[in-house]
Amino acid sequence: MLKFLPISFLLSQEVGKAMSAVAEAALSAFFGVLFSKFDSLESLKFAREKQVYGEINKWEKMLRSIRAVLDDAEEKQMKNGSVKIWLAKLQDLAYDVDDLLDEFATEALGHKLIQEHSAGAGKIHNWIPALCFSPSAAIFNTKMLSKIKEITATLEELVTQKMNLELRENVGVRPKRSLPTTSLVNEVHVYARDNDKEAIFEIVLRNDGSDDGVSVIPIIGMGGIGKTTLTQLVYNDDDIKNYFDLKAWVCVSEDFDVVKVTKTILQSITSETCDLNGLNLLQAKLKEKLSKKKFLLVLDDVWNDNYNDWTILGSPFEVGAPASKIIVTTRSHLVSSVMGTVPGFSLQELSNDDCLSVFTQHALGARDFSRQPNLREFGEEIVRKCNGLPLAAKTIGGLLWTSMDHDAWKDVLKSKLWDIPIENSGIIPALWLSYYHLPPHLKQCFACCAILPRIMNSGRRI
Ligand SMILES: Nc1ncnc2c1ncn2[C@@H]1O[C@H](COP(=O)(O)OP(=O)(O)OP(=O)(O)O)[C@@H](O)[C@H]1O
Ligand SMILES: [Mg+2]
Repeated sequence: MLKFLPISFLLSQEVGKAMSAVAEAALSAFFGVLFSKFDSLESLKFAREKQVYGEINKWEKMLRSIRAVLDDAEEKQMKNGSVKIWLAKLQDLAYDVDDLLDEFATEALGHKLIQEHSAGAGKIHNWIPALCFSPSAAIFNTKMLSKIKEITATLEELVTQKMNLELRENVGVRPKRSLPTTSLVNEVHVYARDNDKEAIFEIVLRNDGSDDGVSVIPIIGMGGIGKTTLTQLVYNDDDIKNYFDLKAWVCVSEDFDVVKVTKTILQSITSETCDLNGLNLLQAKLKEKLSKKKFLLVLDDVWNDNYNDWTILGSPFEVGAPASKIIVTTRSHLVSSVMGTVPGFSLQELSNDDCLSVFTQHALGARDFSRQPNLREFGEEIVRKCNGLPLAAKTIGGLLWTSMDHDAWKDVLKSKLWDIPIENSGIIPALWLSYYHLPPHLKQCFACCAILPRIMNSGRRI
């Protein structure tokens, strides 16, 4: 299961607002749920009357053609108003379709129970054909027919509009970080990680003397908790430099491509650009470079949990000297268990006080509020909302950097915490990545949580 930001953080109303972007992008997840309902024959058996069934079949085809362009539409809606309106209509329609499928499922279940009750245990399996063509089913289907026709008409309209929006099919848009990480520590003041650094040191510098090959040490934790920062501290420490013959840092991130990662490792080790192409040549070269060398490799921000990919990437590492280590940073426990040869190191949130220091560092350029005591109260409250997450403290602190005005701080505390433009904030992209990797049913669940405060404010019934 992927580790996410703290639930209290996520469910706060402010985050709910910011996450409306995610909620609007959750339609493809909702489609996944819809199609599983289409696939569940059980609920549609009740709709088997020819005309009804024919219409519903038509929907499925049209919805599938729409789903093919959803990724592109969800990305383009930020810049294109027509796409945004089209998506909003589609969202309403998807809810109507969902409601109707649920009505079929409920009706079918009711009839099943009646049948079971009256027919007795021995004849239960015969209920379906009788039910589908029973007079009560026909009445129900007739009642539904006008609703169904309305949905068909809207769907046809949406399919026609889709053609004019020039949306691309199956582009598979994936959220991306704006910049890859590097081995350089980009934080001048890193707070409260001394003990964690010591603990990682202990594992990295341990010469376990085993012949089992290179040890893989996972560092796990939610997005923005400081995995990369901690690993940068370890990587750049003099003891580490002296202990290993070779070091390499690779930001793996979303696009796990064995050829690309192998090439980057090679370049990082040799500090030279590499013109070789093809995995075979690259692996042979890497093997030659690593042979009998004690190396430290950092694979930062790994999402791919495919065991086969990992074994292919890892094959040149076997020739390294026994005490060689690979550090993998990841948000995913699955990645940690697939790749790790030792138990993962689980990085925890900062204490409130340390988080406060991160915040004041970025808001005031100081460790504390001693020079700005009037801002302390608001600052402390803002930091409590960060739940020990340095990324949140840094982002919000940075937002207030130019403002020493009491009211501006109050405003941020009250309403603008999460309205930070995406380009100035790592929070939404960090959330977006975790969201992207959730299975469809959890995406939908998450999107519901994100829009809940909005629905409640608008007084709509759910
Ligand atoms: N202990 C700390 N003191 C001060 N700043 C920190 C600390 N830890 C992290 N930061 C800052 O918080 C931000 C997020 O940290 P980092 O990138 O290390 O998180 P991460 O866990 O690697 O996130 P992700 O899962 O997105 O890769 C960075 O900008 C970093 O500079
Ligand atoms: Mg990271």
